[in-house]
Order: sequence, then structure tokens, then C-alpha cells
Amino acid sequence: MLTTRFVDRGHARLAVHLAGEGPLAVLIHGYPLDHRMWFDVLHGPLAQRRTLAAVDLRGHGASAWAGDAVHGMELFADDIAAVVTALGAKQADVVGLSMGGYVALAFGERHPGMLRTLALVDTRSGADTDAGRAGRDAAMQTVVTQGRRAVAEAMIQKLLPPDSDLLLRARLTTIMESQPAETFIADLRGMRDRVDRTPLLRLLGVPALVVVGEKDVLTPPSEARTIADALSNARLAIVPSCGHLVPMEAPAAFERELSSVWR
Ligand code: MLT
Repeated sequence: MLTTRFVDRGHARLAVHLAGEGPLAVLIHGYPLDHRMWFDVLHGPLAQRRTLAAVDLRGHGASAWAGDAVHGMELFADDIAAVVTALGAKQADVVGLSMGGYVALAFGERHPGMLRTLALVDTRSGADTDAGRAGRDAAMQTVVTQGRRAVAEAMIQKLLPPDSDLLLRARLTTIMESQPAETFIADLRGMRDRVDRTPLLRLLGVPALVVVGEKDVLTPPSEARTIADALSNARLAIVPSCGHLVPMEAPAAFERELSSVWR
């Protein structure tokens, strides 16, 4: 069963959805998602080994938009640190998917002592290219002129392989379309302006796992390999048949991989 706690940080109120018991593990969702993307993991066997805390980043899920024009990765990372402290922990296993991975890296940079292990899932360490930044600006225009649905529809084609399960697509659509339009804009700005954290990787000595779907077209296996090669203590897992959302597409395989790093 999930319980929800709220953590106040300035004008933001962060919802944290908790399952299980044991040392703390924080799960950080991607864009434009929320804690519901971790549903299977929260209800799976890892809850017997960890207190799983799926955070709704500010503006997502049950964490209301807090008035920020930009959701910088550093702002999100400091929110995660506040959650860890509020839950009475000194350290956490940190798992971040895609945008959540950008946040996890910013957390590792700003709060290295709080990081016990790191799992980077379907993500990249570099900054946006010029083309990527232009794409963010175009997506912001689309949110405002055509609505969130248009952005969500375009995204789902890239998030999942074409033959993916209809129920999974429906779950994703529900999650994406329920985030406020202002969250889309603030997230897109934050991701567009984020810095290259590739140089940080070699400084992170904690046990790490890098997971990617074999068919991930947004952050392909080549990105994951670059990250795993740069980290000093990482295992790389390429999960067959999956796209950009391995924890939703293949939760059992994902949980097995995490188990190998969570001692
Ligand atoms: C995500 O899944 O969080 C986004 O696709 C990340 C991005 O757009 O860079």
C-alpha cells in the first residue's frame, strides 16, 4: 500500500509516495510524468528491501505548480535533498529516469554525501544540442497554441516502440495530459538550459547502474554506454525490446538490475 507525505520547501509543497521498508531509495520521474510511472516498481519486490519514495517533482502529480518560471535541474535536485532530510535519512539510493536522470546528476553534484548508489535510466549526461534547444522552444509554442495533448501525442511516438501495449500507452497518456501546461513550459526551459554534466561522471565513485531500452530512440544505448564508460563503478544494462520507459515496459527486468546494485 502507498502512503503519501508532503514536504514543504519554501513556496513548494512536494508530494512523496512511499512503499516498503528499509534504507531509503528515491525514484525521480521523467518529463512530463509523475510518480505514477513507478507504479509497478512501488508494488513490486524491491519494497521488501527499501523504503521506496517516488517523488512528484514540483508542478507534477500531487505537487502543485509552485510559481516557478523555470524548473532548473538544480532546483529539483535541492528539492530531492529536502525530501531525503525530511524523511530522516542521511543518504539515499537515487534512481532517475530521463529528466529524472538529469536531476539525479545535479543531486550528485550538489549533495554528493547524500548519494549511496545511483541508477541512471534512459537518460543522458550531456546538455541539449542547438537543435535540441530549438525543439524545446517549438514544444513550448505547441503547448500554448495546440495544448498539452498535441505535445503528449507527439511524445508518445518517441517514448514507446510502435508495437507497445495499448494499456501502457493509455497509462502514459493519462499521466502526461494531467500535468499543468505551466509545468510543461517550466520543465522545457529547465531542460533546455541545463548544463553538461559529463565531466561530473568520473568524480562519482558510488556504485552505479545505467539502464537503457534497446529501442530507446530519445536517449539511445550509445548515450548509456558513454555514461557507463565515464563512471568509475558502473554496470550497464541494455533491456531488450524496450523503448524509453524501461521501468514501465519491463518492471521485472528493471527490478532485477536494481537488485544487483542495492546490496
Ligand atoms: C524525459 O523523458 O524526461 C524527456 O524525454 C527528457 C528530455 O526531453 O530530454
